Amino acid sequence: MLGGMPERRTSPGRRDWMLAQPARIEAALARSQRLPSGGWFVVGSTRAMRALSKPKRLMINGHELVAWNASGGEGLFVAPAACPHLGADLSCGRVDGDLLICPWHGLALGPAGHGGWKPRAVHDDGVLVWARLDDDASTVTEAPILAPRPLRAIDAVITRQANCEPEDIIANRLDPWHGVHLHPYAFSKLEVTHESDEALDVDVTYRFAGRFGVPVKARFHCPDPRTIVMTITDGEGTGSVVETHATPLIRADQAGGPQTAIIEATLATSDRAGFAYARRVAPAIRPIMRLLASRLWTDDARYAERRFVMRRGE
Ligand code: FES
Ligand SMILES: [Fe+2]
Repeated sequence: MLGGMPERRTSPGRRDWMLAQPARIEAALARSQRLPSGGWFVVGSTRAMRALSKPKRLMINGHELVAWNASGGEGLFVAPAACPHLGADLSCGRVDGDLLICPWHGLALGPAGHGGWKPRAVHDDGVLVWARLDDDASTVTEAPILAPRPLRAIDAVITRQANCEPEDIIANRLDPWHGVHLHPYAFSKLEVTHESDEALDVDVTYRFAGRFGVPVKARFHCPDPRTIVMTITDGEGTGSVVETHATPLIRADQAGGPQTAIIEATLATSDRAGFAYARRVAPAIRPIMRLLASRLWTDDARYAERRFVMRRGE
């Protein structure tokens, strides 16, 4: 028995702790960490970033940045937060057009840059905003490496933080065998049916209202080293995706580190006739989607933090 729930098996005769082989999970993680990122990091949801009415300070991979929306026009910018003159915190500045005015001596900074200070490349994919922070010309890409998304979807994005590194977040999702044990309220069955170097296929039954469950097939894969995507491949909501992005905020070698943001976008779709109506009432549905995702990540963030502590040898 586990937490009052009957113990569940994902394979007759083999228990999940036998199936969740550490070496297999580590090998899958190592493959994901060798993928190119193109230098891109998710910085927030499109909805939240577009709603910024004043400059906002961001910490991404140990870099202090500022994001601002151009006033009275289109354009979201991300740039170093330290003023190139004497280092003032530009997130305390004000916006004038597409310029950010330094609060100390009024230097106007914008897309043209100033000496070594220049805005970073930004990509808004309609759900998430990314910034390109690596400048290695041999590895950067024009745009982030995105996994396929449904054409018509209701999207909801949650953000939370964990005291671990991005790889701990990815490793959590590369272990689907924990699903029914750590999240008995969400899954009544979670069986890995196929594993390859590219993907993990699972049969999963989502639990709704006690014993009632919805069985689907899903695939996990990593399009880049800081992202893992679950795609529903068969059953209710086929084509829906959950993109989990792990963005390092403070690195492990910095004071207060490591800290990583979990930025998870759920893009739900359906070929049911009622879906067009559901899209119209998306603002009412989004909070429920966020609630479900947040509940899973309450447990999974602890898993990821624990993994970090264990591998650091404490
Ligand atoms: S510190 Fe920004 S203008 Fe002087
Ligand atoms: Fe989990």
